[in-house]
Amino acid sequence: MIEARLRQLSRADLEPLLELERCQPRHWSRSQLETLLQDPDCCVLGAEAGDRFVGHAVVVRLPFEAELQAMLVAPDMRRRGLAAALLEAVAEQSRDWGSERLLLEVRASNEAAIQLYRRAGFSEDGRRRGYYPPLDEAADSNREDAILMSRLP
Ligand SMILES: CC(C)(COP(=O)(O)OP(=O)(O)OC[C@H]1O[C@@H](n2cnc3c(N)ncnc32)[C@H](O)[C@@H]1OP(=O)(O)O)[C@@H](O)C(=O)NCCC(=O)NCCS
Repeated sequence: MIEARLRQLSRADLEPLLELERCQPRHWSRSQLETLLQDPDCCVLGAEAGDRFVGHAVVVRLPFEAELQAMLVAPDMRRRGLAAALLEAVAEQSRDWGSERLLLEVRASNEAAIQLYRRAGFSEDGRRRGYYPPLDEAADSNREDAILMSRLP
């Protein structure tokens, strides 16, 4: 595990968060992130290594459960345990909220994320057929299933 500091992000962290988001093709917009950072039912956790943001996780409080809505680690910082550490911080936040379960959904082709979640104790609850648009919309490919997963916080 790399030395990284995990903390809850605020509106003041918008610019570096946006920069990290932009390392993936389908990234969240400035206004979407701004809304999340100011939502009292949302917790955006960031991982900092030195003076750089290297990962984040977004979890929201639902009436009974919590839902992981996003998880991203900078490409050059992967396979160092950062996502696993962020997931445990997400679980801790869900426990603090008193959530009964921690839910998420993941693209069926996202092997890395599915392995990460299985290893962190998530199990598969079902699928939403054709939930995600193709990753490359220009290519003649089909929509993808979402795999629904959950665990106790
Ligand atoms: C998925 C993602 C968050 C994983 O981040 P990471 O920091 O590299 O993950 P970790 O180092 O904490 O990995 C923990 C475990 O998850 C599994 N895992 C992570 N990446 C994997 C990969 N590419 N292939 C297979 N297993 C993988 C492994 O079991 C790993 O343990 P190990 O390294 O001891 O084998 C990262 O690849 C990413 O940001 N991907 C793009 C965004 C994304 O897909 N987000 C999830 C949306 S649902």
